[in-house]
Amino acid sequence: MLIVFICIFLFFIFLYKFLIAYGDFTLMSKKQPKRQEIEDKVVWITGASRGIGEILAKQFASLGAKLIISARNEAELNRVRTQLKGKHAPDDVKILPLDLSSGEDSLRIAVEKAESFFPDSGVDYMVHNAAFERPKTSILDVTEEGLKATFDVNVLGTITLTKLLAPFMLKRGHGHFVVVHKNSLIISDFGLESAWQ
Ligand SMILES: NC(=O)c1ccc[n+]([C@@H]2O[C@H](COP(=O)([O-])OP(=O)(O)OC[C@H]3O[C@@H](n4cnc5c(N)ncnc54)[C@H](OP(=O)(O)O)[C@@H]3O)[C@@H](O)[C@H]2O)c1
Repeated sequence: MLIVFICIFLFFIFLYKFLIAYGDFTLMSKKQPKRQEIEDKVVWITGASRGIGEILAKQFASLGAKLIISARNEAELNRVRTQLKGKHAPDDVKILPLDLSSGEDSLRIAVEKAESFFPDSGVDYMVHNAAFERPKTSILDVTEEGLKATFDVNVLGTITLTKLLAPFMLKRGHGHFVVVHKNSLIISDFGLESAWQ
């Protein structure tokens, strides 16, 4: 009887973990973030003016990260900044407004600014979280304009930012890109190890 009870109990724990990981076994296998892996690291989060990006900023701040927060709306970034609490927050939190669809030249300036905020370390973690919010329509009703806007922000802007920041990380020999991805909320860590081995 006791064994049956334990099995049912373990099944419900598994089910709970399965549901909060959106059924993603990779995500399930991840442990809680370790403070020593985040503390004093420079974390740059896009789309930090609301939603998941705002929550990520709060989590990273509480783990002692040095934060750079980006989005287009500077006023909202300032609001988020005042709410951050941690070893380096809110005082040392840097606000870096940017538009991911603004093209390579403009994003290069943003990357240079981000790298200059904490010159001793540069950016350790780039969290690509920003996304164009397409009006909710059926796929059959999506306009070409809507598709282009989505592609410009979610794909082209994200890849361009990665391409511009990666050389700084490669030069230092470390750095990570984290991508928050729609549908499965996969948080994948490219790492860059293979690029410099
Ligand atoms: N919410 C969900 O249920 C869900 C589920 C799975 C995955 N996700 C993914 O999680 C991420 C965040 O989702 P969310 O629901 O928190 O989104 P959200 O509330 O719509 O926030 C999007 C963020 O991206 C920024 N942004 C939009 N266009 C931008 C641009 N051109 N340049 C720079 N920043 C821009 C927005 O700020 P500004 O408007 O100030 O620029 C905002 O901070 C997205 O990648 C989404 O695909 C969400």
